[in-house]
Amino acid sequence: MRLGDPPAPEQLDPMERVSRDELMAIQLTRLQRTLIRAYQNVPLYRQKFDNAGIHPNDCQDLSDLAKFPFTTKQDLRDCYPYGMFAVPRERVARIHASSGTTGTPTVVGYTRQDLDLWADVMARSIRASGGRPGDVVHVAYGYGLFTGGLGAHYGAERLGCTVVPVSGGMTPRQVRLITDLRPDIVMVTPSYMLALLEEFGRQGLDPRAASPRIGIFGAEPWTERMREELEEGFDLHAVDIYGLSEVMGPGVANECVESKDGLHVWEDHFYPETVDPVTGEPAEAGELVFTTLTKEAMPVIRYRTGDLTRLLPGTARPAFRRMEKVTGRTDDMIILRGVNVFPTQIEELVLRTEGLSPHFQLHLTRPGRLDVMTVRVEARPGSADRTEAGRALRGAVKDTVGVSVEVEVLDPATLERSVGKLQRVIDKRDN
Ligand code: DLL
Repeated sequence: MRLGDPPAPEQLDPMERVSRDELMAIQLTRLQRTLIRAYQNVPLYRQKFDNAGIHPNDCQDLSDLAKFPFTTKQDLRDCYPYGMFAVPRERVARIHASSGTTGTPTVVGYTRQDLDLWADVMARSIRASGGRPGDVVHVAYGYGLFTGGLGAHYGAERLGCTVVPVSGGMTPRQVRLITDLRPDIVMVTPSYMLALLEEFGRQGLDPRAASPRIGIFGAEPWTERMREELEEGFDLHAVDIYGLSEVMGPGVANECVESKDGLHVWEDHFYPETVDPVTGEPAEAGELVFTTLTKEAMPVIRYRTGDLTRLLPGTARPAFRRMEKVTGRTDDMIILRGVNVFPTQIEELVLRTEGLSPHFQLHLTRPGRLDVMTVRVEARPGSADRTEAGRALRGAVKDTVGVSVEVEVLDPATLERSVGKLQRVIDKRDN
C-alpha cells in the first residue's frame, strides 16, 4: 500500500502540537464561555441548569462539567426546529438535519464561523488520514441535509485538494469516475465501499489497480475485519472517521493513518466523556457524551450520543485522547433471549468464516414466544460448500456471543446494497 510520510510538525495545526496541559487550560476557558452562552441564549439550557441548581459559574474545573445535566435527542426534538439556537436565526448560515429514520427530524444550525471551524477540523481529519494538498478526493457521502457530503467537501477544499462531489448512488458511474479521474482518496460509508468493490468486479476491472491510496470511512459502525476486507480489496489504507450532526457532522474524531489505533477526538472543539448508559455516572467505557467548546449557533452541553466506546490516551497526536472504534449504539443492541448482541459482533464472525461474503442482514422475528435472529448472508462468489459455511457461522456465534441463531446462506448479489448508511437489522418482531 502506497503512503507518504506522516505529516511533519509544521504541517499540523498549531493546536495539534500543544501539550495535554495546555490543551486542558484552553478547554476550560472555552467550556466556561460555552456554558455561559448556552445559559444566556437557549431557554432549554437555562431551565435545565436552574432545575438542577447549577450555574455556569460553578464550573471552575473540567471535572465540574459532570455536575451539569445531559442533553438528549428528545430535548432537540422538543425544541424543533430552531429552539436550540444560541444566535438569532439570521446569523445561521446553514441548516442540516440528522438522518433519523422516524419522527421529528433533528435540525442543526451553523454560523459562518461554525462552518469555517468545521472545514478546519475536516481538513485536519483528512490530513490525519494521510491526505495532502493537491490530492484528488472523490466524495461519495450523500450531499444534502446529511452532513457527510458537504462536510467532507469543504474540508477537502480547505486542505487544498481537488474535490469530486459525486454524492451517493449510481454505482456504475462511481466506478467510471474513480477509473477516469484517478482520485487519491475516497470518502464514503464502508458499506457503500463494499458495493463499489463488487461493481469493479462486475465491470471486469481490478480494484487493487485502482488509484485510491486512502479510504476515509465512517457514518456507521465497522470492524477491524471490515478494514482488512477493504484494504485487501482495494490495496489502500482504510481510516475511520466519526461524527454526528448534533455535535457538528463528520470530523469530530479521526484516526491517524500511521497508527490506525482508534480515533483522535479533536478535543480543542469537542469535549468527550463516557458514562454508564443506564445510570449516567462517569464510566471508563460506555456511552459517549459530547460538549461543544467553540460552536456558536448550536452549542450542545453533555449530549448523549448513544454510541458505545472507551476513551484512551493520545498516541499519534499525544494531547488528544482517542476513542476506540464504536462497537455499536445503545439502541442498536439486540437483546436475544437475554443475551446482548451487537451487529458488529456478527460482522466480525461473518468475515472470519470461509465461504461467506461481507454482505449480510440480521432478521428478527418472533414465531412463537421466543425471539429468533436469522443471519441472512451471501456466499462468496465461487465458494463451494454453503452448508458448511452456514454451520461454521452458527457455531462461531454460539461460541463467541453465546446465543443460537439461524443462518441462511444466499446466492451472491441477492441482498439489497446500501448507497449510504447501512440498515443492518430488519426487525419484524411486531408482525
Ligand atoms: O453520520 C456524520 C458522518 C458523516 C460521520 C460521514 C462520518 C462520516 P449523523 O447522520 O448525525 O452524522 O449520524 C451520527 O452515526 O452517532 C454514530 O452512531 C454513527 N457514526 C458516525 N460515524 C461513525 C463511525 C454522521 N466512524 C451517528 N463509527 C453517530 C461508528 C459512526 N458509527
